[in-house]
Amino acid sequence: MAEQTPTADSDDAVRGSFASRRVFILAAIGSAVGLGNIWRFPYVAYENGGGAFVIPYLVALLTAGLPFLLMDYGIGHRYRGSAPLSFRRMHRGGEVLGWWQVGICAVIAVYYAVIIAWAVRYTFFSIDHTWGDDPAGFFFGDFLHVAESPSIGLDFVAGVFWPLLLVWIAVIAIMVAGVQRGIGAIAVIFIPVLVIAFVVLVVRALFLPGAGEGLDALFAPDWGALGDTSVWAAAFGQIFFSLSVGFGIMITYASYVGRRTDMTGSGLVVGFSNSAFELLAGIGVFAALGFLAQANGVAVDEVASDGLGLAFIAFPTIISEAPAGALIGVLFFGCLVLAGVTSLVSVIEVVISAVRDKLALTRAAASLLVGLPTAAVSVIFFATTTGVPVLDTADYFINRFGILLVAVCSMLAVAWWFRDLHTIRLHLNEFGSFPLGNWWSALVAFITPVVLVYVLVQELIDALDEPYGGYPDWLLGWFGWGSAIGVVLVAVVISLLPWSGRTSLDVPEEVHR
Ligand code: ALA
Repeated sequence: MAEQTPTADSDDAVRGSFASRRVFILAAIGSAVGLGNIWRFPYVAYENGGGAFVIPYLVALLTAGLPFLLMDYGIGHRYRGSAPLSFRRMHRGGEVLGWWQVGICAVIAVYYAVIIAWAVRYTFFSIDHTWGDDPAGFFFGDFLHVAESPSIGLDFVAGVFWPLLLVWIAVIAIMVAGVQRGIGAIAVIFIPVLVIAFVVLVVRALFLPGAGEGLDALFAPDWGALGDTSVWAAAFGQIFFSLSVGFGIMITYASYVGRRTDMTGSGLVVGFSNSAFELLAGIGVFAALGFLAQANGVAVDEVASDGLGLAFIAFPTIISEAPAGALIGVLFFGCLVLAGVTSLVSVIEVVISAVRDKLALTRAAASLLVGLPTAAVSVIFFATTTGVPVLDTADYFINRFGILLVAVCSMLAVAWWFRDLHTIRLHLNEFGSFPLGNWWSALVAFITPVVLVYVLVQELIDALDEPYGGYPDWLLGWFGWGSAIGVVLVAVVISLLPWSGRTSLDVPEEVHR
């Protein structure tokens, strides 16, 4: 690994930095590997062509995910600021893109935390199978007390309120502790533990009876799916969310890395580690579903379900029925907690670092200024009987019309408006071990935006055609379209406000070999 040289820049010392390239890579893997890998990928792959999904997935990874990850690294590392500050330093008109990404992170943080809180409770429920013989009834009824029809109210559910509060207290404490002593320190501990625990879980699942049928179901290719644009949208959406690219995270983390660091080599390590973990999750989850199907004498497609159903209904059933089920449960939900926390801190760090840069606040002040209101909104919406439909809607819309849309706008703006791709490429190549050629610029400036625009237009047509999830219009309006459009409006307003006089908007000097 390349040596990290101490930076002479006092600005870096004030903002904080990762102690070494190794810590940065672990933190970046911690951000990438999250709920998206464990509970979203297996089902997305299965639903969208199974084995054939490998093709759109790899295309999305190689043509969009990795090139864009490197662009994010280049922006943060070159301009050394939060997303709004980096874009502002790149070009006067760029700031709004940064705040748009910050807004997306604020929305994601609000609902991401509650899934971790549920997983905390389920880690303990796994020990004595608290859900009894009706995991679905238990999850929606006894545990979440989901309202009969979608509604907004302040009926708090104690069993969710307390763990959610605990998650937020822990996250705010990590953020106050700082880049290295908070984010870096937990990544160094959590990621190795996560990898070991997850490998044990997958090996255990592979030895369950019926595991083979589960894998057959996951990997059986449906080639016809490749002609369906929604399959391609799913692949791009999955890659962007899972790699944590496009919404400010990698810009922010890269700004905390020593100036002589090999960022292109680091990007490849992070990108391929994330996909390896995703594949492992697919194998583990479907091996377990194969067991469940065989034990109940049904086909795998009858037990495979998406996000919430998979983690909080199918897995509890497996835990109840499998030998050493409690161990499977503690490992599975424990992994969700570890992977979730290292991702949540990266999401909220985007907001904290942006507010810190704009107002020139101390880390503690910015962490509290951002953390407390975000935690309050999270608790009000998700520790009440309101939660599930709001979470589902916000997650769908913010992924499609938030992350994918801002990603395509950022690529086009950097390439065609700010005309900065060449500068970023030279910067990355200065210390990078994996040289970026013209092919990289071509991908970021032409090919990926064209594919993404096509995919997004199709998604928009679908979303307008058929109300998502069959939810009422007011719910989709406020929490779906409302959150996707609202973050843009807020971004425009904030970008018009002045920066603190103590924040330099000058482009930092380049460091050369
Ligand atoms: N990249 C994170 C995940 O996969 C956000 O969950």
